[in-house]
Amino acid sequence: MSFWEILLWTSLASLLTTLLGGLYAMGTFRVRKTREPPLDKGFIPWLGYAINFKKDPVQFLQRMRKKHGDVFTVLVGGNYLHFVMDPHTYRHIVKEPKNKLDFYMFASVIVFNAFGFHSSECHHKIVQTFSNKYLSGQNLSTLNQVMMANLQKVLFHRQEQKRSWQQDGVLHFSYRNMFQAAYLTLFGTEPEGGVEKKDAVKENELTHYGEMFEAFQRFDRFFPQMAFSLLDPLGKRETQRLKNIFWDILSLEKVYQKDNISSWVLEQDKRMAEVGMTEKVRTRFLFLLLWASQANTGPATFWILVHLLKHPEAMEAVREEVDEALREAGQEVKPGCPIGNVTLSALKTPFLESAIEETLRLKTSPFLFRSVMQDTDIKTSDGREYTLRKGDHLLLFPFLALHMDPEIYPDPHVFQYDRFISPNGTKKEFYKDGIKLKHSTMPFGAGPSMCPGRFFAMSEMKIFVILMLTYFDMELVKKEEEIPAIDARRYGFGTAHPSHDIQFRYRLRF
Ligand code: HEM
Repeated sequence: MSFWEILLWTSLASLLTTLLGGLYAMGTFRVRKTREPPLDKGFIPWLGYAINFKKDPVQFLQRMRKKHGDVFTVLVGGNYLHFVMDPHTYRHIVKEPKNKLDFYMFASVIVFNAFGFHSSECHHKIVQTFSNKYLSGQNLSTLNQVMMANLQKVLFHRQEQKRSWQQDGVLHFSYRNMFQAAYLTLFGTEPEGGVEKKDAVKENELTHYGEMFEAFQRFDRFFPQMAFSLLDPLGKRETQRLKNIFWDILSLEKVYQKDNISSWVLEQDKRMAEVGMTEKVRTRFLFLLLWASQANTGPATFWILVHLLKHPEAMEAVREEVDEALREAGQEVKPGCPIGNVTLSALKTPFLESAIEETLRLKTSPFLFRSVMQDTDIKTSDGREYTLRKGDHLLLFPFLALHMDPEIYPDPHVFQYDRFISPNGTKKEFYKDGIKLKHSTMPFGAGPSMCPGRFFAMSEMKIFVILMLTYFDMELVKKEEEIPAIDARRYGFGTAHPSHDIQFRYRLRF
């Protein structure tokens, strides 16, 4: 063999080794081991099913489930993702210790990509501790009163003069009003500086929060791409611009000029300072709190209102129930006579609660994500056992595994406002394969990562519906218009967004 031939063969051999090494590193040669779930890598090395998964996760996962059963592993952008669709396993999975199935690792990547700081278990503990303290029990009742007053302030602002019909998008109206009221409730109000300045302050506050809401919505639209570092250069510039706006609004200097800041925000920030976080990180953490407390609730109130508008029998039943409950609580309802000291938990409103739960069943679709820290065994309700491989990831998707299962919820796509009430008036129980489900819906996740704001979120949604039904007449502009579809790109991120807004008219009832 000539020198040149030897050189050529050596070069080819080294190219082949590099190529094979690269493919090996990408996991192309991975084979399924005994006890591991069925493995599907798709046809594109490394990418696997990334495109199908990103385009429409629900359709993709339904297809995979049909092909492989309730437990399977797919390759998505270099990651091996295990999916478990048997809801009976969920309560065991979420109880696994974090040295087996860890939640923080993935969450901290998202937090860094979206909010620009390295979060740790310490942040998570601060959130959990202070949320347990200030977003439940007696402190929650106090916060609910503040939210009730603020939402009335926002809703009735300049309504006194406007007794005629007004028009808006249901999403725009619900999200904007909820955003403003919850912001005032959690992050405080502008200092009033004397009685004569009060009206001007109120006017400024509401205009300012209107602009802030528009910026928040723009930021939130980028959230899925931002979370997975998939922004194009234009998106990167725009999200940076929006983050700068919020980092300025939430700079400690400005935040601490406010009156009436909630203990939830104040105490978390104080603890962040105590554990040595810089002012920069504290501000970024406050922006995370703002996003988490707002991004799901506004869209959720949209879906509730739109379902009630499309289902007059539900609207009627809930309205009658709310009127009755307020009467029993001794509340006189008329303009200029806002609902005052009413304890939300004392109002008996089972239809309203069921309608909210039904809406969350239909329209919340979070992924619950865990990193597999060591080979971990799971067992499904039919007795099959699987081992999840260390280094992979596990995704639970209760929307498909639970919320949309026709065995648990007959006609799962249909809104039935009283679905969660049994014929004898008690809370209904749900079964799969004859076994009672511990959690029949999971809009707020489960286990250590479960939404710490869930009780306040439920209160906010109730307050919104109570006020809207009590004080306003409402109708869709086009009565025959269908409820908008879900925007498939947002599956996996809590409350779904509609593909478009829908117009409605509203006016004061009295
Ligand atoms: C309809 C309204 C809401 C929905 C559907 C919702 C849903 C969720 C979900 C699914 C998670 C992640 C759970 C997981 O990964 O297992 C989460 C986390 C979180 N939520 Fe909510 N949420 C809502 C409202 C709220 C509100 C009103 C607040 C605060 C006032 C809040 C504060 C948070 C925080 C701080 C986290 C992160 C927790 C952590 O990292 O430890 N949420 N939420």
